[in-house]
Formats: sequence, structure tokens, C-alpha cells
Amino acid sequence: MTDNLWYKNSVFYELSVRAFKDSNGDGRGDLRGVTEKLDYLQTLGVDCIWLMPIYPSPLRDDGYDIADYYSVDPAYGSLDDLKVLIEAAHQRNIRLIMDLVLNHTSDAHPWFQAARSDKNSPYRDYYVWSDTDQKYTDARIIFVDTERSNWTWDEQAGQFFWHRFYSTQPDLNFANPKVREEMFNVARFWLDLGIDGFRADAVPYLFEREGTNCENLPETHEYLKQLRAFMDEHYPGRILLCEANQWPEDVRPYFGDGDEFHMGFHFPIMPRIYMALKKQRYEDMEKIMRRTPSIPENCQWCTFLRNHDELTLEMVTEEERQWMWKEYAPEPRMKLNLGIRRRLAPLLDNDRRKIELANSLLFTLPGTPIIYYGDEIGMGDNIELFDRNGVRTPMQWDDSPNAGFTDATPFTEPIQGKLGYQNINVAGQLNDPESLFHALKQMISLRKSHAAFGGSDMQWIQTGNPHVAVYLREYDGERMLIFNNLGDSVQQVNIPTEYRQTGTELFSSRSITLGDALELEPYSYLWVQL
Ligand code: NOJ
Repeated sequence: MTDNLWYKNSVFYELSVRAFKDSNGDGRGDLRGVTEKLDYLQTLGVDCIWLMPIYPSPLRDDGYDIADYYSVDPAYGSLDDLKVLIEAAHQRNIRLIMDLVLNHTSDAHPWFQAARSDKNSPYRDYYVWSDTDQKYTDARIIFVDTERSNWTWDEQAGQFFWHRFYSTQPDLNFANPKVREEMFNVARFWLDLGIDGFRADAVPYLFEREGTNCENLPETHEYLKQLRAFMDEHYPGRILLCEANQWPEDVRPYFGDGDEFHMGFHFPIMPRIYMALKKQRYEDMEKIMRRTPSIPENCQWCTFLRNHDELTLEMVTEEERQWMWKEYAPEPRMKLNLGIRRRLAPLLDNDRRKIELANSLLFTLPGTPIIYYGDEIGMGDNIELFDRNGVRTPMQWDDSPNAGFTDATPFTEPIQGKLGYQNINVAGQLNDPESLFHALKQMISLRKSHAAFGGSDMQWIQTGNPHVAVYLREYDGERMLIFNNLGDSVQQVNIPTEYRQTGTELFSSRSITLGDALELEPYSYLWVQL
């Protein structure tokens, strides 16, 4: 694997800078805090950190509403702090990507301020205006809990402006070449600073066109390809990760012929992992993976169990959504938009076996896994907090007051109770070889030391048992047979003749002889190298 394909066999880690570690005693996490904790991330085995937005922002959408694309919010530190972080990460062989929010700015951005206050301003056309709110009516509303329309009337401008997210996040007008150029400049700025790439936010929505749902338009792909070509030419080895919450066949074009995105999130597999665990059957996972087209050799899917948003249920049927809500969001506060605002451990009843099994799936399905900060120790959440803040609480470092996150009053209280910092924290788990942290550390290390996991294809193996997901991962001359028992009871699988052979079970590094049948403990998993 050449180094420019590093992302294919890596483990990513997403973190909120504000919630990770406070280094200067103001109660908010910062870039220096992240630098202080790099050794921890290295111990875990992380190859690439994805920083949630650190740009100056009024925080109406936690930084996804950017007021200045060229600096760091002073609360998080300075550009120099970021340089130091990048350097220190690189010394540890850890890369760093950040959010690139192309689709919209904050309404506090000077471009929007100029645009709304003067019809003749060159910035007016940076945004999408209309005298009526009856344009692009086929575009769906994303934040259904708060927004009634994708158009909002602006008193000052005397027109409606277009926005796919909060009304405080006006969409940029990508039909304007100036806007397209601005975003190249933004990318160049951060790449010159040393960043290893971008998680490109909300890319399906860049362009609008009447008579369409304004998603995944050809002109959007054309622009993204230009961005990729620009990066390949000037910054080879840096990556673009695509956030398109779409069906696999609609994400596929974002890989192009290997000339658009390097990576793309696989949104639909995520809720199906939870469905599989609850139904104790793997069929939904199998169906969506069979529906997943193959992708070019230099591309990679990105898989995740949780992230900073609600557990999104956009990529399921209405019936499945209702079922997921019933099973995983029994309290009304747990629901948010089309999803569930809970973290991994509470979703899985804090059952260590289920949490490990979910991770076994995450680490063995095609795609580069992303861990959401705190889920490696099984941190809790707080569904009472506004919007998605309940899954963005202070990292639980130890059991001292404020979870070892800060010496000051934290921006928000760390989680209390059973999954709170008194019980679940990094210090405790580092000291306990039996902890979830150590189990995941081992998974990460096994995953990275075997080429078989870096490919993007898989083969489902029929064993006559609907409760056990069995599949073959094969790549670069290596073959890995994976067993995941989703059942809460002992399950037996029949081994097809061609796999009746002696291999190595990776977790114990013991030799294992696969006969005609195999028995698996409840919620257990087995990774066998053939
Ligand atoms: C997707 C991000 O993950 C989410 O947090 C944000 O609210 C929207 N894009 C809008 O930027």
C-alpha cells in the first residue's frame, strides 16, 4: 500500500475540541488540550484525528456556522496552536483533518452581512435570494424539528434567502464563480498550514436547480472534482472525506473514477448495525452491503457507530425508523429530528458484550472506522441538553472533580451517574487490562496489522444461522473469516467445506481448526485468519 493510500487502512477518531481537554483553565477545551492528549490517542492506536469545526462562530450550530474561514476561534486557541498540534501529531504518525463547510456560512459572516444590507454589494450574489419562497419546493427540510421552510425572509434584504440547515446558516451560491473560488482559497489556506485533509460537510446541497430535489446534482460533482484535482496537484496524499447522508448508490458518484472523494461515510450501514443487534439477525446488514456498489481501488468507505450528530435515521424506511425509535428512543427527549440523540454505551444498555460486538462489526466491515471520542471508554450522554449537546459533553479523563477535563467551571457539566466520570474514565480504564479501552486498543491494532481489512469488498458466507453474521474479507493476499454472534444465546453455524481448515484466531493468536460446525457464545465474535 503506497503511503498516499494511508487512509485505506487507518483508524480515525473524531473529537470536539471544546469538549476534549481544557489546557488554560477557562472551562472550554482547546487545541493545546488536544496536543496534551496526543499520547493517549497514540496509545489507543489512532492514525487520524478529525477535529470538529474550530472556526470563529456564533455557535448556532456548534461551529458548522462559520463567521470567518481563516482563523481559529480564540476559545480554542490560535493558528500557531494548530500548527503546534499538527506538528506534534505528525511526530507521532498521526494525521489531522478538519471540517470544511462549503455549503453555508453563518449569518454573522461579513459576506452575509454585506449581502443583506446592500442589494448592489458584490457579496449579494454569494447567497441565494428570492422574492418568493416558492422556489425549489422539491427540496426536503433537514432540521425538521426547528425549520418550517428552506427559505427565510430577511427584513433588511427585503428578500428570502435559501438555507438547507438552520435559518442562521444561509447557503452559499455555488452558481457564482466567485464563491467557488473563495472555497478553493479556504482549502489552500488550511492545507498550506499543514492539515492532512477535510471532512467536507453537507456536500450534496451545494447547487440548486428547479425541478430537482437539489441534492447530488451533476454541477455539484463537477465542482467537487475540481477541488480534488486541485488537491492532487498541489497536496498529494491529503484527503477529502465526503459527508453525504445518502443511499449507497447515490454516494457512489462521489467517488467518481477515483477522482472525486478519497473517502465517503457509509450512512446506511450504521443504523442497520443497531437493527441487527436488537433483532439478533444480520439480514438488514447483508441487504444494504449487497446494495453497496464497489468503489475504485483508491477509494474507501468510512464506517462509524456514532458521531457528534443524532444517530441519523434518514437512510431507513419509515417503518424501520418508527421501529428504531421504539427500540432505541423510548423517551421522547431521546428523539431529535429524524434521529436519536444518544451515545453508544447507553444505546447498547451499557452491555459490554454488545458494545464490543458492535465494534467488531465496525472494525471488520469494509471501510475505515471512525471512533467518536469517549465511545472507546463507553462514556454516557445527557439527553436533557439542547440540540445535540448531550453527546458533546466533557471527555471523562478521571474521577476528579470535572472529570479531569478542566480546573475551572466546565462549559457544561460532565456526565454524572452510572456512565458518568466517577465510574467511566480514561485513567481507570488505562489501569485495567480488562477494560473496554484495552479491548478496543487490541481490535484497532489487529485491524491495522492485517491488509485484509483495508479492501472495500466483502463476501457473505451462508451458514444456515440468521443470528450469526459471517463474512470473508480478502485483500492483498490475506483472507479473514469473521464471525459475529448477534444472538443472546449460544449459536451454532455450519462451516462451508471450503473453509474447513486450520487458521489463526486473531485475538488469542491461537491456531483454530474449523470443522463442519462452530459454536459461538452469546454476543461473541471471532476473527479467523485463513
Ligand atoms: C452536518 C454536520 O454533521 C452537522 O453537525 C451540521 O449541523 C450540518 N452538517 C450543517 O452543517
